[in-house]
Amino acid sequence: MKKKHQAKTKTSSSRARLPGDRPSSKTVERMIRVDHAGEFGAQRIYAGQVAVLGQGKSGKVLRHMAEQEDKHLAAFETWMVEHGVRPTALHPLWHLAGYALGALTASLGEKAAMACTVAVEEVIDEHYKQQLVDLGKDEPALRKLITRFRNEEIEHKHIGLDHGAEDLPYYPLLRALVRAGSKTAIWLSERV
Ligand SMILES: [Fe+2]
Ligand SMILES: [Fe+2]
Repeated sequence: MKKKHQAKTKTSSSRARLPGDRPSSKTVERMIRVDHAGEFGAQRIYAGQVAVLGQGKSGKVLRHMAEQEDKHLAAFETWMVEHGVRPTALHPLWHLAGYALGALTASLGEKAAMACTVAVEEVIDEHYKQQLVDLGKDEPALRKLITRFRNEEIEHKHIGLDHGAEDLPYYPLLRALVRAGSKTAIWLSERV
């Protein structure tokens, strides 16, 4: 009898989420936390790139992307306050690592900076796409926000491609490294 009860409890608490199930408040909280971390990281990357290349020919387009990241970040800051969500404990790390990544790639030249942009934005695009799947038809306001930001991240990716990211001789290597780093940052920010 006891065994049967345990099995039933396990099934109801740990089964995979099915279509039609509402995401739990914990899931939504986790989404807001990781999205805030991602937008903060993106803002720091562009800040590092603008610091190095801001006076160059790509300065204007870098500032355009940086301004959009500022708005993305501000929106998630508002969501965090309204929903009582704490930031990731890794916030200070992303402060340094984001800026360092931006400044380092920019110091390697415009194409390297753009290759970094393509890699980061690809990962954020995939991340937001997955969140929209996970939300289903729930949380319409959050869905709307994510959809709008995702479109702008895709725009950033195309800006990177239009500015010669793929012409960088070591583009595949840099892209792979930055993608791996970005995915790791997302994984950690969802958990810590
Ligand atoms: Fe963004
Ligand atoms: Fe972006």
